Amino acid sequence: MPARPVYLDHAATTPVRPEVLEAMLPYLTEQAFGNPSSAHRFGRAARAGLEQARREVAQAVDAEPNQVIFTSGGTEADNLGIVGAALAARDRGAAMCAVVSAIEHKAILAAAHAVCHLGGREVLLPVDADGRVELDALDAALRERPAVVSVMWVNNEVGVVQAVREIAGRCCQAGVAFHTDAVQAFGKVPVDLAGLGCTLASLSGHKIGAPKGIGALVVRDRKAIEAIIHGGGQQYGIRPGTENVPGAVAMGRAAALAAVEQADEAARLGELRDELAARIRAVVPDLVVNAEGAERAPHVLSIAVPGADSEALLMHLDLAGVAASSGSACSTGAVEPSHVLVAMGVARELALGTVRLSLGHATTADDVTRAAEVMPGVVAKVRKLAGVLGRA
Ligand SMILES: Cc1ncc(COP(=O)(O)O)c(C=O)c1O
Repeated sequence: MPARPVYLDHAATTPVRPEVLEAMLPYLTEQAFGNPSSAHRFGRAARAGLEQARREVAQAVDAEPNQVIFTSGGTEADNLGIVGAALAARDRGAAMCAVVSAIEHKAILAAAHAVCHLGGREVLLPVDADGRVELDALDAALRERPAVVSVMWVNNEVGVVQAVREIAGRCCQAGVAFHTDAVQAFGKVPVDLAGLGCTLASLSGHKIGAPKGIGALVVRDRKAIEAIIHGGGQQYGIRPGTENVPGAVAMGRAAALAAVEQADEAARLGELRDELAARIRAVVPDLVVNAEGAERAPHVLSIAVPGADSEALLMHLDLAGVAASSGSACSTGAVEPSHVLVAMGVARELALGTVRLSLGHATTADDVTRAAEVMPGVVAKVRKLAGVLGRA
């Protein structure tokens, strides 16, 4: 019997947890399938599930239930946070300027770009060699009184944890709204939004065992944003549209589980990640771990294999039964190094030889052993292939 494949791509998405599936099913099929805006019993049952989900998400991230605005995922939450803050600034007669770090997810970078298309401005904050935002650059940007500053809590490609407490404090002092993309932080590091003092935070369900297509923007100051879609007034008019009740219920359950398990899970995943890095390094001694000098979230291991091509590594890992992902974006046939690694100043050769192994709730010590076992064979094959192609 072929061995069970090893899934090391949890930063991309996670399987739905059985407890989560069980919680959401009645909201798809039974008496709770109603429209939460309907006054009858079907609607009231759906509304009750939705409000319970809001409470669960709020409690998991130290926010108030009426601050949780459900969205279709992290991407929409990021867009609502950035574009919504720029529109609110325009309404106040202030500058439509979005300040974002250079290593943000494309959802933030593209939203900041959209602000430019609306007649505003974007400013990219540089990072150091380990991916930490340069605080001097932040201070300079704050002097221009932007509409919003957005710095992700945990980076999805290399796992670096930003100094969000310090950054939120500086934004607060300057009277500037602070948004954080907490999609990869949620469930992996303690996320306490009231303690942090941020204005806005994005969350996504499918990174923590809920299905794809549900997320939330936590809005701690309603004056800080304007709606970007318009409709029937649901969710205080901030994000109208009939709510995805089963999705929200699933996200509420997943958030509650993640909050209870966070500390133990972070310790367990951190140990597995370090074990995985050590074992791979034992067989690939020139391995480089990206952002190794920074505090990193426990579930992401970004490794560069000198002399190897990441797409070839991923293909051979997949053939050997290990699913991972790369940090490069392949567009129009040309593989370009990831913008995150470029911003960190990682050499092109290393950036093009980088793969991300990411762990999650379902990851076991056996998965780590199996991934480490296939690595020498995969690296040897890919390096040999690179040598052959290089000579051709
Ligand atoms: C840091 C970060 N932000 C935003 C997103 C987008 O979330 P979603 O897939 O829910 O739209 C992701 C997903 O990869 C992410 O890792």
